[in-house]
Amino acid sequence: MRWRQIHLVQWVERDSKMSTIMVVHGGAWAIPDELAESSVDGVKFAACEGSKVLKGGGSALDAVEAAVRSMEDNTEFNAGHGATLNAAGEVEMDAIIMDGKTLSSGAVSAVKNITNPVSLARAVMEKTTNVNLTSRGANLFAESIGMATVPTDTLVSVYERKEWERHKAYVTGVMEDFNSQWAHDTVGAVALDCAGNVACATSTGGIRHKMVGRVGDSPIIGSGAYADNFTGAVSCTGHGESILKVTLARLILSHVAQGKSLADSSQLSLKYMGDRVQGAGGAIAVSPSGQWAVAFTTVRMAWAAVDGDVLCYGLNPGERFKEQLAQ
Ligand code: GLY
Repeated sequence: MRWRQIHLVQWVERDSKMSTIMVVHGGAWAIPDELAESSVDGVKFAACEGSKVLKGGGSALDAVEAAVRSMEDNTEFNAGHGATLNAAGEVEMDAIIMDGKTLSSGAVSAVKNITNPVSLARAVMEKTTNVNLTSRGANLFAESIGMATVPTDTLVSVYERKEWERHKAYVTGVMEDFNSQWAHDTVGAVALDCAGNVACATSTGGIRHKMVGRVGDSPIIGSGAYADNFTGAVSCTGHGESILKVTLARLILSHVAQGKSLADSSQLSLKYMGDRVQGAGGAIAVSPSGQWAVAFTTVRMAWAAVDGDVLCYGLNPGERFKEQLAQ
């Protein structure tokens, strides 16, 4: 079965703590050919946006927020503009951000009418003593800090409206969902800054036709994302209920804590999720020493990384293209 194949795309070991790393994903699923080029362009752009922040001396936290915002603003991805619709035809979004230096984290779940949920998650982290605000509470908080709201329709892409209509007639299983074109999953970013700090962020519209009020893995600390300077930062994508059951981000980092490489840890954890709960997905990870890894068990995952002056990217299993960036 497809989810049993672990596609490890990249693993790089570096020594210098002064170099910065930016890795992003645009969701693990069976990305159709018609979205392939735009998805890759979108992740390349997002990785460069995050890397610009890092190269300007910005923090890993600022970089992951910038990278995820750029994908939330891009209707190709299932986050912010372009988010999937729930069973009632509404947009309900989840997002998280986490700082590996302090373990501070903020998240929002089932939030509506916000263009950049990742920035609202960051505000939860920085302006409240809480970790996760949900639904109406998250929207009330957004209002209290003056964050602009938008009419729902402005978040809904033409593609999503069409797919939502088409999907109504079908019921697919867990494995088929993420290895078929019915899914449309999640964006995320991990970064290492020049001070040696790591951070992560994940944002999603969830699963198309999900129950109203359903919250997936993305905004749940340890499942959709986790960052700790002692081990690394991870952002996950794929079938949310499966990721929640195995707490995928923490599972990956628990293998790292036992001395395994990021690549082996990501592969082992995705294999465990496939074997134990038949879930497919993907993950990106970065360590404080400058290792980074990209792995997925779905047919495709759009990803990009900026490591020094080289932009790496891919979509299909085993793919790793490289471009030299202007200095
Ligand atoms: N991975 C996103 C979700 O299942 O909601």
